[in-house]
Amino acid sequence: PSNKKLLVLPGDGIGPEVMREVRRVIDWLDRRRAVSFDIEERLVGGSAIDAEGTPCSDETVEKAKAADAVLFGSVGGPKWDSLPFDKRPELGILRLRKELGLFANLRPAVVLDPLVEASSLKPEVVRGVDIMVVRESTGGVYFGEPRGIETLPDGKRRGFDTDVYHEDEIARVARVAFDLARQRRKKVTSVEKANVMQSGRLWRAVVGEVHKAEYADVELENMYADNCAMQLCSRPKQFDVILGNNLFGDVLSDLAAALTGSLGMLPSATLGAVDAATGKRHALYEPIHGSAPDIAGKGIANPLAQILSFAMLLRWSFGLEEDAALVEAAVGKVLAGGLRTADIMQPGMARVGTSVMGEAVVRELDKLAA
Ligand code: NAD
Ligand code: IPM
Ligand code: MN
Repeated sequence: PSNKKLLVLPGDGIGPEVMREVRRVIDWLDRRRAVSFDIEERLVGGSAIDAEGTPCSDETVEKAKAADAVLFGSVGGPKWDSLPFDKRPELGILRLRKELGLFANLRPAVVLDPLVEASSLKPEVVRGVDIMVVRESTGGVYFGEPRGIETLPDGKRRGFDTDVYHEDEIARVARVAFDLARQRRKKVTSVEKANVMQSGRLWRAVVGEVHKAEYADVELENMYADNCAMQLCSRPKQFDVILGNNLFGDVLSDLAAALTGSLGMLPSATLGAVDAATGKRHALYEPIHGSAPDIAGKGIANPLAQILSFAMLLRWSFGLEEDAALVEAAVGKVLAGGLRTADIMQPGMARVGTSVMGEAVVRELDKLAA
């Protein structure tokens, strides 16, 4: 058995379909690179609600804590959409983020050369785009209290959420963003709505303090989140690292995904704090897309975001930079060779389904390692 413990949570919809293709890559590493994993697979999301009565059982949380890394698919779907708010599949991923303390969600949006024409934006706007969105992922409006829907005396309903951040929550995710920028092009664009939100004012102040005290060598730019959405579409190349709260980070990373051609291309890593005693950190890797109910079961989902999430896992949780780069290179070769799932289809390219795409990645791995 290997000393690398992986918990695999395929989830719902296309989750299990794209996860199957990652298993091919894992098997290949096992055979050809002497990198092996002890893998346990469990249910999460709607499928866990159906089988276990809860979107993420206590046992799954414990296994996630005990694992060296978690590979997550996606959760949710129309079947569970009418469940009460506190019983929804999405609570599965939210619970894991919260209970494992996974506060920093890294979402790289890279426009790969072969996909420049697959973007809905002009080639000259997107060619060379390489952005890292750092999204705070355990705080803000996702978890703030009070929240609810209440009925007022006049019989009308009122819905409310609370967007709240403690300064330590802001400072620790800001450090992640600045550290990443140091390895990249040394620029952080911090987004908020400091013009209308108190938590946004604190966000801007704390990011500025951390910058001044610890990261004067990195450029910091503050930008309102709405302007950032516009700038992402008009001049995306100005961005290196984008730092945002839970909600703005969620929205802006889907937008950044569209630059790259498809949501089906974008991986993510969600990291916890490094434990001072062991040097280890909890980490979960997932594509940024959801369960895609509109195409689930058709065998046409793009598995590359899930495969690239596994590459991030190799790099961030195990320091296997060479293997991670190999998987990424294989994905690049497959695209350069002209294979396309429907979401990134372009004229003159060969349209393939989920499993042919996965097989093609393994074939390119074979060639690269030959
Ligand atoms: P979605 O990401 O599932 O789909 C949005 C669009 O992108 C759809 O047209 C879909 O077909 C397409 N798409 C997504 N991934 C693709 C892939 N790999 N290949 C090809 N096309 C792809 O978002 P949604 O439709 O808003 O949400 C559907 C469900 O997923 C909801 O229940 C939502 O809550 C959930 N969701 C879960 C996660 C997660 O588990 N982390 C993330 C986002 C949404
Ligand atoms: C994501 C998703 C989740 C989020 C949902 C499913 C809870 O949209 O991972 O981006 O909003 O964080
Ligand atoms: Mn999202």
